[in-house]
Amino acid sequence: MGKIDTPHSQTDLTWDYSDPVNGPTIPAPYFYDPQIFAEEKERIFMHCWHLVGHVNEFNEPGNYVVQDIFEQSVVVTSDKEGEIHAWHNVCRHRGNRLMTERRGKVGGVLRCQYHSWCYNLDGGLRAAPRTEHLCNFSKADHSLKKVRMEIFAGWVFITLDDNAQPVSEMAAGSEEIMRRFLPDMDNVELVEETDVIVDANWKVIQENSIEGYHFDLSGPVHKDLAALIDFKGYTLTSYDKWWTYIGPPNKDATHAYGEPLEGATWQTDWFFNIGLWPNTTFYSFPYTDMIGTFIMIPLTPEKSLLRFGYYAPRGRPVPKVTKAAIKWMNTQLGPEDIELNVTNQKGLHSIGFGSGRYLIDDNLPNQSEHLVYNFHKLCYQAIKE
Ligand code: FES
Ligand SMILES: [Fe+2]
Repeated sequence: MGKIDTPHSQTDLTWDYSDPVNGPTIPAPYFYDPQIFAEEKERIFMHCWHLVGHVNEFNEPGNYVVQDIFEQSVVVTSDKEGEIHAWHNVCRHRGNRLMTERRGKVGGVLRCQYHSWCYNLDGGLRAAPRTEHLCNFSKADHSLKKVRMEIFAGWVFITLDDNAQPVSEMAAGSEEIMRRFLPDMDNVELVEETDVIVDANWKVIQENSIEGYHFDLSGPVHKDLAALIDFKGYTLTSYDKWWTYIGPPNKDATHAYGEPLEGATWQTDWFFNIGLWPNTTFYSFPYTDMIGTFIMIPLTPEKSLLRFGYYAPRGRPVPKVTKAAIKWMNTQLGPEDIELNVTNQKGLHSIGFGSGRYLIDDNLPNQSEHLVYNFHKLCYQAIKE
């Protein structure tokens, strides 16, 4: 029987990325190989910063948000003084997972539901039933274990790596741009969060979001989005570990997301997106009054959790067009992209593929896939170099 010539054997995972314009795309197994996935977990996700939410989600004592990173889990709380803390989400008694909901609010303590050890909001062990007669037992030795946290531009990030470069350094220069396009950033609150499981590698989802090549060539909803943007001015810029893709508005638009623009209110008419290494995106749709977050959380080599957060200014009603945009993202644009993610994931397994070719062309900067290349390069360098 003849040997089937696969485009990439398991051992052939090197990628010559020296020539983005003429060279090949990152080899297909990077999107499904379990060993690659294990390396991404160890070398990227155990060291990078993870977006938890906005500081305003912690404006009352006892508010908490749980962030899972593979089998690790972190709980972020605010204490009575309004200070935000991040803890490993585990009881120091026998290792029970402490908080099991994504977010919530507790009274004065985080209580383990197994044997009722209770922790203060500043992490200290307050009560541990029936431990009075234990020898050499001190509550002080059993506080929750701290996780590194950083607040950047009003957003709460955590990392499992105490030596990780601070977000403010990694994304130096980005806050100013965010504040220019997302002007109410200090005053937003979460209005909705939607989790979707997608049968695709996390990078397949990321790639799709950082190129405009497919906007007017794929599905009908994308064409609707493209019609809200002055697409000639769509600009995709890489700043090493962060990147922006920004489109000026189509000033002739009369409707957006099925709603008339006449009489409508919004804070920004631009299509603004900023990505932070490796998997966090903040964005704003044209003619809306909201900040979207878009996080690609890897679950397995070919399964990801896509988390859509929607934040709108506090103290005033969410405008009709913005509400329509949120619904449109959840029910139309999101699903249209997810369908592409899934068919892309399937195709990557084909022995008729192996690797492809980037469309990188200075004559078509608004369609160019240079951000895709840069992202692939960051991934490759993180796990192979
Ligand atoms: S494991 Fe938490 S109280 Fe026992
Ligand atoms: Fe898309």
